[in-house]
Amino acid sequence: MATVAIRIGVIGCGFYAQNHLHAWKELAADGAVLAAVCDVDPGKAEAAGRTFGVPFYTDAAALLATERLDGVDIVTRHDTHRALCELAIARGVAIIVQKPLAPNWDDCVAIVEAAAKAGVWLAVHENFRFQTPMRHVRRVIDSGAIGTPNWARVTFRTGFDVYLTQPYFYDEERLAIADVGIHVLDLARFFLGEVERISCETQRRNPKVRAEDTATMLLRHRSGAVSVVECTYEARRDPDPFPETLVEIEGDKGSIIVRPGSIMRVTSNGTTTEEDIGSPLRSWTSNPWHVAQEGAFMACRHFLDCLQRGVPAETSGKDNLKTYALVDAAYRAAAEHRAIIPAQWKENTGALSMERWAQ
Ligand SMILES: NC(=O)c1ccc[n+]([C@@H]2O[C@H](COP(=O)([O-])OP(=O)(O)OC[C@H]3O[C@@H](n4cnc5c(N)ncnc54)[C@H](O)[C@@H]3O)[C@@H](O)[C@H]2O)c1
Repeated sequence: MATVAIRIGVIGCGFYAQNHLHAWKELAADGAVLAAVCDVDPGKAEAAGRTFGVPFYTDAAALLATERLDGVDIVTRHDTHRALCELAIARGVAIIVQKPLAPNWDDCVAIVEAAAKAGVWLAVHENFRFQTPMRHVRRVIDSGAIGTPNWARVTFRTGFDVYLTQPYFYDEERLAIADVGIHVLDLARFFLGEVERISCETQRRNPKVRAEDTATMLLRHRSGAVSVVECTYEARRDPDPFPETLVEIEGDKGSIIVRPGSIMRVTSNGTTTEEDIGSPLRSWTSNPWHVAQEGAFMACRHFLDCLQRGVPAETSGKDNLKTYALVDAAYRAAAEHRAIIPAQWKENTGALSMERWAQ
């Protein structure tokens, strides 16, 4: 069967977009066509256009009006996502948009509802769950080797200088949870299912940043499982696992432990095995970023496959509201010193509506 070509326009050609651009180029063999790029910064637009050999734009409306696109991949910061999504929705063009979907819950819901109303395919580029090591963990859970998972710790703890490539972190109003905690919370959902309530303690350990750089969260999942979800940019550790997420999951028949270097130990019914669950470097990835870059590639590959088959992405806009609700609930839990039930968005038959659970 012939491969369905999917023409993608990348909007935003900054730091992280370089990974998306490489991913789409590599996915040409599978039918992805990097059709054009766009950045309001003319230098970045031109550099990306020349490097990847495609037309470049400084205005997303012009990109959408000129190019025949099947989808846009929005890799700008969260405060621009809603306006850019609305442009694509007005043109009926599928959307992949980086996390966090928007700066606040109401904007997230507005994007999801507008896309649903217009019948526009929408996915959030939530990529940690697509990292090869995390897929291996999920494979072991699904195999039943550890029985029913009932406790987990999912952690992203580093002292790597993330401010070097993302200096805007200093001024964010919400930092650790909104930037990286969102990925780790999504993993907790991916491994243990939906969340009933969440507690959270935040810390600002680096006096140069405006918001929290450390968060320790406690989740009660609907299955009855409990997880501890941690993230910090202020750990002083040797080895520093950046940018790996470390995982410990206990079930009634065994456990999964992922150590730095993507080494997974699985104990099942009293027998322990060890496996390297990392993946080889791609032509355009390098350490220490490889795990994150590879996750972006695997996410793009998943989105391409879903677009070609005309099915929703695993991290559709609707799905990602559940992860975003955890982010919001964590901030509220930290501010109010109590466990919070995450907000829920419900799609009613006929009309769409948002329902917030009363506390
Ligand atoms: N692991 C991950 O998945 C990961 C890692 C890093 C960043 N991110 C996410 O990627 C997004 C971008 O982050 P970044 O660090 O690359 O930011 P960045 O500031 O380096 O790049 C953003 C780019 O968007 C451009 N831009 C802004 N408004 C625009 C508009 N209206 N039209 C076109 N271009 C516009 C800017 O000029 C800039 O070049 C954020 O949402 C961030 O959270 C994800």
